[in-house]
Amino acid sequence: MIGFIIILVITILFLVLKYFKSPHKSSLKGRHIVVTGGSSGIGKWVAILGAKRGAHVTIIARNADKLEDAQKEIKTFCINEEQKITKVSVDVSKYGDIQHIFHELEETVGPIFMLVNCAGIAICGKLEDFDEQQIKQLIDVNFLGTLYPVKAIIPKFKERKEGIVVLTASQVALMGMYGYSVYSSCKFALRGLAESLQMEVKPYNISVTLALPPDTDTPGFELENQTKPIETKLISEVAGLAKPEQVARNLIDDALAHRFFSYSGFESYILTTLCVGMSPFTSFLDVIVQAVLLGPLRLLSVYYILSFNYIVKKCHLEKMNK
Ligand SMILES: NC(=O)c1ccc[n+]([C@@H]2O[C@H](COP(=O)([O-])OP(=O)(O)OC[C@H]3O[C@@H](n4cnc5c(N)ncnc54)[C@H](OP(=O)(O)O)[C@@H]3O)[C@@H](O)[C@H]2O)c1
Repeated sequence: MIGFIIILVITILFLVLKYFKSPHKSSLKGRHIVVTGGSSGIGKWVAILGAKRGAHVTIIARNADKLEDAQKEIKTFCINEEQKITKVSVDVSKYGDIQHIFHELEETVGPIFMLVNCAGIAICGKLEDFDEQQIKQLIDVNFLGTLYPVKAIIPKFKERKEGIVVLTASQVALMGMYGYSVYSSCKFALRGLAESLQMEVKPYNISVTLALPPDTDTPGFELENQTKPIETKLISEVAGLAKPEQVARNLIDDALAHRFFSYSGFESYILTTLCVGMSPFTSFLDVIVQAVLLGPLRLLSVYYILSFNYIVKKCHLEKMNK
């Protein structure tokens, strides 16, 4: 009964907050938006929605064929003929290359207004199963591959006293989970980067948004599934599978409204509220709701922690008995 009341109160507050979410503060029309990882999944949808809202869109990834296909697809969503849809093949974990590309893009397409970092890769597994090269690959793409583009763009944003930065982390940037020791470390690091950076750039009218997608139906997620230990699969089943277009829409709307967190769906809202800590806030209504919910949510989290530990223990015993 108490559990039911807690869930009911949380659901009502979630709906109230959704209803009262402030409308977009800026428009993307005629603006230049750069999306790393824009040839696939969530990044491609961010690019499509940017095109639908009249932005000049640049997508960045490594594979030239995939970039070409994505560019053609994104062009079909443009709303006027002036819009430029550009593709650049570059590895985001190479700082010098990224710095050079941003310089060129500002010359050819125009000043960058919004940088959305979506390039990333998820490989699951127990820590001892990773070799050194795989660990470096994950850190390079997921952490440095976000830090470097952000570092390259910040001086330009500061000069213009305007700009929006989005870092795409994950729900496992808020909670550790079996099978995500390496990936989750990189995504936790992005939260530290986002929280510190937003304080550095606030006086320059630059905002930072940390996107926390749940499991989302993308080519990247399909690949990730191939590496998931059974324990990770069973624990992840608790939550559903989001649509990339919805995650991308929330990401853009939250970034334009200068919100620090961008989440999608009820479970993500609960986890984000539970892990809000010393993160920045954009509305006092949010703070009041968080203050009311934090205690009950901590109790609810105990149920999930126990059930996750039970799954791990059960799988362990099954393996021992084989
Ligand atoms: N899908 C999910 O369930 C989920 C959940 C939480 C968080 N996320 C995060 O959301 C982001 C997007 O995920 P997704 O599932 O949409 O991925 P995806 O479909 O695999 O797309 C990843 C994109 O990143 C690019 N990329 C990868 N490594 C790169 C590099 N070194 N340099 C430049 N581009 C690179 C890929 O193109 P190339 O390979 O051609 O370079 C591709 O365009 C990632 O950061 C992921 O960690 C995803």
